[in-house]
Amino acid sequence: MDKIDILQASRIPPFLSEGLKARFEVHARESADPQVLARVRAIVGGGEARIDQALMDQCPKLEVITICGVGYDGVDVQAAKARGVPVTHTPDVLNDDVADLGLALLLSVARNIPAADRFTRQGEWEKGPFPLTRKLTGSRLGIVGMGRIGQAIARRAAAFEMDIRYHTRTARNDVTHAHEPSLLALAAWSDFLLVITPGGAATRHLISAEVLQALGPQSYLINVARGSVVDEQALIRALQQGLIAGAGLDVYEDEPRVPAALRYLPNVVLTPHMASGTAQTRGAMSDLTLANLQAHFDGQALPTPVPECRA
Ligand code: NAP
Ligand code: 8YV
Repeated sequence: MDKIDILQASRIPPFLSEGLKARFEVHARESADPQVLARVRAIVGGGEARIDQALMDQCPKLEVITICGVGYDGVDVQAAKARGVPVTHTPDVLNDDVADLGLALLLSVARNIPAADRFTRQGEWEKGPFPLTRKLTGSRLGIVGMGRIGQAIARRAAAFEMDIRYHTRTARNDVTHAHEPSLLALAAWSDFLLVITPGGAATRHLISAEVLQALGPQSYLINVARGSVVDEQALIRALQQGLIAGAGLDVYEDEPRVPAALRYLPNVVLTPHMASGTAQTRGAMSDLTLANLQAHFDGQALPTPVPECRA
């Protein structure tokens, strides 16, 4: 029997690539001609995949879109729903790794670990001591977004005896930390402001020049959400002018391009959108993506549809 044709819309983990090739005829987006697109029954991509109405229009046999990532801000979910095409993603299996990297960035900016590493390697220690850094334990952490990953971050921060408050549109009744309805007030209170909301139009530039100004010259911004949530130009200005103390960033507005101004700043720690990037978690994300695809083609209920596509 012919294998089912699926379109790979962006880079995906090798585990997923192998699993897909075993069961499906996989076509890369760059090389898929109109005849191939006309046969495509599923689109698979990572969290950064852009799957818009125009692409769906080219795939009249499309039945399902499966994202290997929890964030699906690149997918036009309303256009998919209008065609009766469900969208799936991979929640929960990556909470630990993303929270771990959030804490790693917090510690890295507070204790200036990348600079300390360079200092030690380059023999600078022989000339004098490394400058003093910032204590993390007991400091104030404002978390913007208190969903699956935000709560995993809060659990880890509690072990550092951090004083935790959070901002979301709706206060949660399953979280004991104080809800702060005003993002500006949370920023003004925080020593560290950590962002872990979805991306997309609803959160675009939520962390504005005004929020950064409120955060202030002694405090730090950490972003492990999406680059679009932070006004990157305002952040660069705030870092250059000392309006905030520093930043730890895993995500950027135009990935994989990172503005030169950010790369040259000494008071930032940068990672390449790698928060879920362990072999174990990318394996679990790949398994869940395959399980969603298989369930669809077996006529079973989808394990993890996105909230908009749940019955
Ligand atoms: P989730 O469980 O859906 O939680 C999202 C949280 O964001 C909720 O608390 C939500 O609360 C809040 N939120 C949404 N819109 C908001 C707004 N306008 N203002 C303030 N808070 C808002 O999602 P999750 O599983 O924790 O994942 C969160 C995001 O992390 C993903 O969507 C993805 O973009 C990002 N992520 C990044 C990486 C990485 O590699 N760096 C890895 C995984 C995930 P309300 O709805 O009450 O506002
Ligand atoms: C992935 C992510 O790195 O899950 C998300 O939303 O951003 C990350 O886990 C991304 O999906 C790459 O495919």
